[in-house]
Amino acid sequence: MTRLAIYPGSFDPITLGHVDVIRRARSIFDEVVVGVAHNAAKNYLFSLDQRLSLARQAVQGIDGVRVEKVSGLVADFARAEEASAIVKGLRSSGDFDDELAMSLLNRHMCGVETVFVMGDPSLSHVASSLVKDIARHGGDIAGLVPDSVAGALSRAFQEGRNG
Ligand code: PNS
Repeated sequence: MTRLAIYPGSFDPITLGHVDVIRRARSIFDEVVVGVAHNAAKNYLFSLDQRLSLARQAVQGIDGVRVEKVSGLVADFARAEEASAIVKGLRSSGDFDDELAMSLLNRHMCGVETVFVMGDPSLSHVASSLVKDIARHGGDIAGLVPDSVAGALSRAFQEGRNG
């Protein structure tokens, strides 16, 4: 039996911390589906198509991983993919506090358990929001995001985009 996990997130944009969690999840599950979510209430820097494209480039070459769009609830996506688990990465106890209620709600809605994967401590400071702040102010984001994301970030801020 194939064990598939979904790894949902905003991925605005995908970072090397996310890629690390994807690799760790893939070492546990036969297949990992990265679910790029769109929440109309959120102000993203990158469009859904850009976030999908950057995530696809970032996982290119990692066997057993694909990237899909999450159009509605994560719970419905988990059911549609017949997922055995929802994976979330944890960097800190703060992340756990944010994820606890979400994992219980998702289990309530679709019966799928959330599996928490501890990211590499060398990447515990990497968050999409911080990376955007650094890039917005012209700082060096090498080693924090894949090269394609670094290029997309500098283009976005040269265009004067906000997010
Ligand atoms: O921290 P992120 O990356 O912005 O998380 C996004 C997401 C959708 C994975 C997170 O908000 C979540 O797990 N939400 C559960 C509720 C849900 O299904 N929302 C619908 C998707 S917008």
